[in-house]
Amino acid sequence: MAKAIINGNRSKGTINPNIYGHFSEHLGRCIYNGIYVGENSDIPNVNGMRTDVVEALKKMGIPLLRWPGGCFADTYHWRDGIGPKESRKKIVNTNWGGVTEDNSFGTHEFMELCRQLGCEPYISGNVGSGTVQEFSDWIEYCNMGGQSPMAEERRKNGQGAPWNVKYWGIGNEAWGCGGNMRPEFYADLCRQYATYMRNYDDGHKIYKIASGANVDDYHWTKAVMERAGHCVDAVSLHYYTRPRTERWEDKGPATGFPRSEYYSTLANTLYMEELVENHGRIIRQYQGERQVGLCVDEWGTWFDVEPGTNPGFLYQQNTMRDALVAAINLNIFNNHCDTVVMANIAQVVNVLQAVILTEGPNMLLTPTYHVFEMYKGHQGAKQLESYVETALIGEGESLAPNLHVSASESKDGVLVTAANLDDRRPAELDCALSGLGQPGSVGGRVLTGGCGAYNDFGAKPIVKPAPLTAELTGDGFQAALPPCSVAAFLVK
Ligand code: AHR
Repeated sequence: MAKAIINGNRSKGTINPNIYGHFSEHLGRCIYNGIYVGENSDIPNVNGMRTDVVEALKKMGIPLLRWPGGCFADTYHWRDGIGPKESRKKIVNTNWGGVTEDNSFGTHEFMELCRQLGCEPYISGNVGSGTVQEFSDWIEYCNMGGQSPMAEERRKNGQGAPWNVKYWGIGNEAWGCGGNMRPEFYADLCRQYATYMRNYDDGHKIYKIASGANVDDYHWTKAVMERAGHCVDAVSLHYYTRPRTERWEDKGPATGFPRSEYYSTLANTLYMEELVENHGRIIRQYQGERQVGLCVDEWGTWFDVEPGTNPGFLYQQNTMRDALVAAINLNIFNNHCDTVVMANIAQVVNVLQAVILTEGPNMLLTPTYHVFEMYKGHQGAKQLESYVETALIGEGESLAPNLHVSASESKDGVLVTAANLDDRRPAELDCALSGLGQPGSVGGRVLTGGCGAYNDFGAKPIVKPAPLTAELTGDGFQAALPPCSVAAFLVK
């Protein structure tokens, strides 16, 4: 029996709902087909947005959506995507498969999508190949309520009221596809761009996010914080999980993977904690008066594309292994909610660790979707410290604790989310709640099916949450977590 303690006397603060954010890029079938099918499609839609996808994302509890990239953001010129659709410029998507981008999904469509989802928009501006004026005009176009050239143009294009977009990214991966810059050079650019990112309404202050480090590039975070930390609200971090493979070019299959890749994927996921702690420490060390947060605005699994699909589209299936990756990452973000202010899994539909896959008019929910849905009670709740008695499991050099937990308290009760990483053995959990009063009831749900299990088109969904028996004890509850599972317990 593994003992866990949820400590009601210790909290790192409120879990920012934006930790449960998502990411949508003009990449493969994410936007087109996956989200946007156009008003004339046979697929049921509202103003071009797929009804099935919008409804599912709302049910999952999507608080925020990042757009238009990714690498695409630093080639995107927002004026190409406004005005009458028939006269919008057709461009080549040079990052992703060299396909034609007809710009039928632009700023107005993205804002309409966010309206339907009831979520916050997060726009990444073009620093790599754009100009300061272009970026500044985009903000004016979105946020200016009074008289101005950009506001007039927006009105002419059918949108009267300003959208007041709060979250703006100052480029993306400036160290790579966003311009191959040195951090010192980027930091100076970031200062320049940030200067012209204006607030048009005191009640709606914009939130500026600097393009951050790749994985463990701590020099990047330090250099950007030292030089530009005073003019931004957050710095980003990108870290994708892949298994250990013999050749770097191979990322391993998304399904039918060997046991060694299961454990190396989980072990590599746990590295996120070290990254968050180290980047967070640097941010705190170099921040001045202005509090700067960490936005992990790209994370998730990155495997080989599905056989027979366009390599530039990054389409992969999603198994219980992905569910565990999601559970571990979300537990880490919850447990570091004093540092992580936002996180965006890549990407929302049909790309990398997607929560939804589509095939023509059909849609399925991946195991990762269910983890987000099971964890949604953490959004905006008070994080509670948790301690778990774990055993080390794994294969070869890829070791991981068998249990991974986070907890929070809200008006609904105490939510404990726990993952059993062991692919063969169940985990008996004895969870005590300390300083939280006498528990009156407990309800459990579990997601499982074996570590390679996934939902597929044309078959009944096999991975979906099911009730899990949990027994109240004097000070908490006990439950048995099946091998390779994610569980959520709500204690009242
Ligand atoms: O998510 C796919 C790509 O990964 C993004 O476009 C880029 O930012 C990252 O390298």
